[in-house]
Amino acid sequence: MTDQAERPHAPLSVRLPLSGDTPLDPPAEWEELRARCPVAHATLPSGDTAVYLTRYDDVRTLLSDPRFVRPTERDGAARLAPEGTGGAAVTGSTAVAIPDRGEPHRRWRRLVGGYFTAKRMTALRPGMTRLAEDLVDAMLADGAPADLRASLGFPFPVHVICDLLGVPARDRNRFAYWSDSFLSVTRYTADEIHTAQQEFVAYMSGHIAAKRAEPADDLLSALIARNEDAKGEGDDDGGLSDDELVATGMGLLVAGHETTANMIGKMVSLLLADRSRWERLLADPSLVRTAVEESLRFDTNLGFGVLRYLGEDAGIGGHLVPAGSTVVCSMPAANRDERAFGDADTMDLARTPNPHLTFGAGPHSCLGQALARTELQVVLETLLARVPTLRLAVPVAELRKTEGLLVGGLREVPVRW
Ligand code: HEM
Repeated sequence: MTDQAERPHAPLSVRLPLSGDTPLDPPAEWEELRARCPVAHATLPSGDTAVYLTRYDDVRTLLSDPRFVRPTERDGAARLAPEGTGGAAVTGSTAVAIPDRGEPHRRWRRLVGGYFTAKRMTALRPGMTRLAEDLVDAMLADGAPADLRASLGFPFPVHVICDLLGVPARDRNRFAYWSDSFLSVTRYTADEIHTAQQEFVAYMSGHIAAKRAEPADDLLSALIARNEDAKGEGDDDGGLSDDELVATGMGLLVAGHETTANMIGKMVSLLLADRSRWERLLADPSLVRTAVEESLRFDTNLGFGVLRYLGEDAGIGGHLVPAGSTVVCSMPAANRDERAFGDADTMDLARTPNPHLTFGAGPHSCLGQALARTELQVVLETLLARVPTLRLAVPVAELRKTEGLLVGGLREVPVRW
């Protein structure tokens, strides 16, 4: 951070991403920014500049305001990464995309979001528990030490999404590969990403046709049935076209795989980093729900945060931020704001209420949050029951961050039991 001690009124300027002492600790800059400069200047890895928000109220208010939209290249908004280093999701160049703005977006959310009810999550739980148990048992059979990220964190959410879409178990590895290539920042060439997109679209088109012919108990079949009903009843909402169904499959995979996978690794690391946390959960497993929420709040390594483009001037925290600005909302900095959370830097496994911003807020808030919560709860319950002696196999200081731009995580989560 630029030292502004002699010019207390000049906005502070940071170069993103910021880092803490370990991947589990908050960067020191957040506290100072929240206190002295909640609307700061930031330089992104691309070299472009943006406005950086770190206070809870500012982040929540901005995200909740439908006038402010996700940036696209069309807006001339700041770019996150230098040209040519982005995976499909970073560059926005996916072959298919879910509607992002205005009424088409609201309609899509009504149709797809309607599936993620509490009742449905309860119904999905036993199947998810079996998936988690199978992966944990395989990890135990291979023997300690293990990388919990590779054995459980990454495969579990992709298996859950495949089940949700009615994709058979034999095709899960293809989904894992596609998901990886859509989000990867550096690992795949543009050609590989393009080929993966084409394969995914071809697979999903065939899969949707099969669901149309033979519906089952899954999200796509439910959306297709909704289409038929809508046609019959002249419903204003209409249904989703085949292209939109393909885009929905891709959207859920991209939005729901790596995010949850990383969160599993970070949640387990946070709970094991101070083993009294783990022991508290062993003694009282009824804390699993609040412990999951607190892990979501406490995680400092969420990646960049969420970007918004200002098509008009905005007053944020008493500052005028001009039209044309790109704003980076740091949810993890907001989640540590003492103005919103008592003892914000203490991980309190029983914290209630816990209105953290890890799933965003407002019109784009995470559509899959009920699913993500259920996944995290199931993983934690399964580990506590199956591997009570679980512990980190390396000191916390040796955990390493992934270099992904969008979704922060740990490269490995070495564990023993
Ligand atoms: C712990 C795991 C997860 C985290 C931390 C997370 C976080 C987020 C955040 C912060 C947003 C808002 C982005 C914005 O405002 O621009 C979002 C949107 C979204 N998430 Fe999640 N997510 C998670 C898991 C999931 C899962 C499991 C799914 C579904 C399978 C999912 C589906 C979506 C979708 C579809 C959107 C876009 C919503 C829209 O634009 O209206 N997410 N997520």
